[in-house]
Amino acid sequence: MRRHRTITPTVLYFGTPVAVISTVNADGTTNLAPISSYWALDDLLVLGLGATGHTAANLRERPELVINLPDESQWQEVESLGRTTGASPVPAEKPANMTSARDKFDAVSWHPLTATTVAAARVAELPVHIEARATRIHDEDGGLVVVHARSTAVHVEDRLTVADTSYIDPSRWRPLIYTFRHYYGLGKRRGIAQRAELQR
Ligand SMILES: Cc1cc2nc3c(=O)[nH]c(=O)nc-3n(C[C@H](O)[C@H](O)[C@H](O)COP(=O)(O)O)c2cc1C
Repeated sequence: MRRHRTITPTVLYFGTPVAVISTVNADGTTNLAPISSYWALDDLLVLGLGATGHTAANLRERPELVINLPDESQWQEVESLGRTTGASPVPAEKPANMTSARDKFDAVSWHPLTATTVAAARVAELPVHIEARATRIHDEDGGLVVVHARSTAVHVEDRLTVADTSYIDPSRWRPLIYTFRHYYGLGKRRGIAQRAELQR
């Protein structure tokens, strides 16, 4: 029998994959920001953002984005990107060690790649790019923003797919997992769901 106790954690980050969000700046360049609060249902993507971030500001003006997914080896670039904001000056609500960065690609030596359906650039060094258009931006109390977006195109590194199909091979995809602000990769597979496209 498990024994439980009532706690008051500061965050509820029980573990989600990390994404790096590309949005379009006023001058047409692309801003990048790591997030871990997102999920997908069919082609609907839901993102949780801080209201004072530059990503939320960009999406309100230009509702186009790319959800780039890093793999487990890329946590250090993700971590340093998380200490930068595209906003200038740095909003007062941001952590004290945050700095403004006009070119986030340059900040982590990544390179932009033109997207096929949106104006935001993809990140060449990241293995998965989901292009999307924001359809709804909802403000919640406490400076929280929920963005609904629909995927418009998906690009993945060749080696992640099963030959000549649109299936991702889960044995090759190694997402970066964020759990209580620690970075993890995946462990060993524990099973295969009945609905999985790939049954091996
Ligand atoms: C691993 C990781 C996960 C993060 N998850 C989120 C998130 O889900 N939502 C969010 O708004 N900020 C998240 N952040 C913080 C933003 O990346 C940070 O506030 C950044 O300055 C935002 O940049 P921007 O102001 O240019 O949008 C995360 C940071 C890291 C490193």
